[in-house]
Amino acid sequence: MHVLSCPHLPEAAYTPLGSEVYRGLTSTPKTLSPWLFYDAAGSQLFEQITELPEYYPTRTERSILAAHADEIVSTAAGCEPLTMIELGAGTATKTGLLLKAAVLRQGEVTYHAIDVSSTALDEAKQRIEAELEGVAVVPRVCDYTEGLGQIDAPGQRRMVLYIGSSIGNFEPADALTILRDLRKDLKPGDKLLLGVDMVKDTETLILAYDDAAGVTAAFNKNVLARINRELGANFNLNLFRHEARWNEECSRVEMHLESMIAQQVSIPALELELTFQRGETIHTENSYKFRDENVIEMLERADFHLSDHWTDEREWFGVYLATAW
Ligand code: AVJ
Repeated sequence: MHVLSCPHLPEAAYTPLGSEVYRGLTSTPKTLSPWLFYDAAGSQLFEQITELPEYYPTRTERSILAAHADEIVSTAAGCEPLTMIELGAGTATKTGLLLKAAVLRQGEVTYHAIDVSSTALDEAKQRIEAELEGVAVVPRVCDYTEGLGQIDAPGQRRMVLYIGSSIGNFEPADALTILRDLRKDLKPGDKLLLGVDMVKDTETLILAYDDAAGVTAAFNKNVLARINRELGANFNLNLFRHEARWNEECSRVEMHLESMIAQQVSIPALELELTFQRGETIHTENSYKFRDENVIEMLERADFHLSDHWTDEREWFGVYLATAW
């Protein structure tokens, strides 16, 4: 009797981490998806990045929200009370500005915070409920591409927050798919608040991803450290160099990890032996930068109408309020 044999891969290759590492590091060129950055250590490093002098996006977006929270909330709400839903909420440090404006307007607000990190959500719930009376935080641990279908808000208008330029991590076609899927879960009149990082001079862009203190380098290399920790690999972090590049044609900052010498790395849990040429890179992140017309086109193609939009003095960051129809 014949037994059909399947090409056999170790069990770890079927976990989310294992399958992404297997896929990415057996591809040419080698890649790894940016969601791999955010284990506990990586999430902490990201929080540090947001406070770096070179990393302007977080503080710029916060300044826009601080200056316009009342207007954003009143434009979004119209005559109905708002329920807020945040995708990739993290520790939700910017969201408080909008929640505060909503509490002033309507007394009570429900805030659904969605993220893959339960520790970040716990911190967000604790802090927000302590600081803002009238806000009920409903944490939900999931991947936000799973859909918002289950979150209903009878008699309320929903405002989905997708801020922090998180959408910039996706290829344009995937970004559009995300917005369209989101749109399917909304009713006409519901709102999307989208925060995006704008195109600006190249030096400013590069420095934001290659800071003097080396925090972004550590954040990038943490993905290798994570593969060492969780899959037993033997990446030597000193033999890889952090690199940030501006790709003009694609309008994105790219992060890479460049192998400084020809070397072999093994990943026992995946039964993988990898070869790196000297100068070969692992492409770990794309961070797309937008022009006003790109954002408006993307929103319209996903069946949203632009209601209003806000920016800072230098027009470095944009906050777009769109309506589902
Ligand atoms: C969280 C995706 C918006 O692209 O700027 C920061 C992540 N990577 N520094 C970004 C990041 C390197 C960040 N996003």
